[in-house]
Formats: sequence, structure tokens, C-alpha cells
Amino acid sequence: MRIVAGPRSQLLSHRIARALGVEVVCASVERFPDGEQDLRIAEFSDEEAAVVQSTRTDRDLVTLLLLLDAASRQASEVTAVVPYLGYARQDRVFRAGEPLSLAAVVRAANAQGGSVVTVDPHSDPSPHGDASFVSSAGALAEIVEPWKPDLVLAPDEGAIERAAGVAERVDVEHDHLVKTRLAGDEVSIQPRDLSVEDADVVIVDDVISTGDTMAKAVSMLIEAGAGSVSAAATHGVLTGSAICRLLSAGVEHLAVTDTVETPLSRGSVAPAVADVLR
Ligand code: R5P
Repeated sequence: MRIVAGPRSQLLSHRIARALGVEVVCASVERFPDGEQDLRIAEFSDEEAAVVQSTRTDRDLVTLLLLLDAASRQASEVTAVVPYLGYARQDRVFRAGEPLSLAAVVRAANAQGGSVVTVDPHSDPSPHGDASFVSSAGALAEIVEPWKPDLVLAPDEGAIERAAGVAERVDVEHDHLVKTRLAGDEVSIQPRDLSVEDADVVIVDDVISTGDTMAKAVSMLIEAGAGSVSAAATHGVLTGSAICRLLSAGVEHLAVTDTVETPLSRGSVAPAVADVLR
């Protein structure tokens, strides 16, 4: 097997390849005069290849599709490892006339010959095509353990399984807050019946995008008397001033995994991805 390193996931590609003891094929992406991507991968000859490319932006998604096409011309079996699968949050048609974006991106990758493997997606992609996912709990626990928390919290009940997985690994209690979506991107967070007085708390979520959810949860827990509040998420999408917003809210520690390679990336999902490729 070869790991074809997409430009968005170069570090993670090498970590996965190291875990598997296989070689990495690098990609070069230049621009044609009209701005389209002029992509090329090194020649190789192997039965299997795994293209590793997160799709944080629309351009990343096009790069993924081009990489899958290029890889499938050199290997007979190609897997699309998409650690952060963009558009996965549009997992149903919320209003008439909208696309089911998650299904559209899974089918697009499948059409290029790649079965999709993603990490901790917002919802299970498997009903929409040839797709599966791995948990990020190991990588999140690697981040959270040195912070020595007393309690791991999910920002809402839907995220409780992830928090439970992390809490079990670091051997502490877990619970959840209550998140209400007011309109569009606006959310409110309530503490439920939780005592966090003087506790060192970690909030664990799937994604930090605008930082709104985390910042509100951090402020609310500080007001409720927590000793410290830290935040960890699988995917650091981190749009606009998300980092500034979280630091201003008073977050103690802040980190994400390497599904999106950011300055805050700490724990790695490479072992979990390598296991599934093995
Ligand atoms: C929502 O259901 C997700 O689990 C995240 O809590 C949310 O997408 C985070 O987005 P933001 O950082 O923009 O609040």
C-alpha cells in the first residue's frame, strides 16, 4: 500500500504511513493560467493506495477528487481517507430545495473509485454510499490527559458518546450540557443540574468552527464556579476569530486533533486510521 498525501493532510499522511510502515507519495499542485488545479502525483506501482486529504474548503474537495482519479490510474484499490469531511453537517434536507450535502460529497468520492473513511463525522455517512468512520476518542484522550481534568463534558446530549469515550480513557467522570439552537448559527448553552464548583473541566466536541458553542459553554461554566475550563475538539475548522473568541472567554487549554492541521493540533488520529487501513 502507498499513502498518497493530499496537500491539506501532509503531516497526518506521514504519521499514518509510519504507523503502517509504508511509503508516502507526495502530490504537487500548481495552477493553470485560469486558476484550475494542475495536480500531479509521483509514479508508483502498487495494488492499494489510500489518498489522505481533509476537505476543509471547496478547493480541498476538488483536490481530493483529482487525487483519487490520479491514484486509481496507478493502483487497483483506492481508499479515500478524508479525516475532516466538509459538508458533513448538512446531513439532511432541513428546508425544501436544499441538497443533502453529506450524500453529495460521499457519492462524488465513491465515483472516483474511492471508498470513504472519515473520522468522527457529525453523522454516520454510511447510509449515503460506500463510507465508514473511525473514532477520535484516542486522539482526544491524548490531548486531554495531561490537563488532568476532574470532569469531561459534552456541549449537548448528542455529543455524549464522544465525551464518554474520552472520560473512560482518562479515567474521570463525564456528563453533558444542554445546547439549544436559537436560529441559524446562534446557540444557547445551559448547565443542567450540574455541580462544577472548583472542578477542572474539559469540554469535548466534534468541531470548533466559529467557536460560538465552545465560547458560550466556557463562559457559562466559569460563571458556574468551575476551577478551570479547557476545550478539545476533533476538527479545528476555526473560522474567523474563533481562537481569539475562545481565549477571551477564558479557556485554560485549547487543542484539536490533526484531522485539520492547525497551530492548535496536538493528538493524532493516525493510529485509528492506520488500524482501519490495516
Ligand atoms: C454542532 O452540532 C456541532 O457539534 C458543533 O457544536 C458546532 O458545529 C460547533 O460550531 P461552532 O464552533 O460554530 O459553534
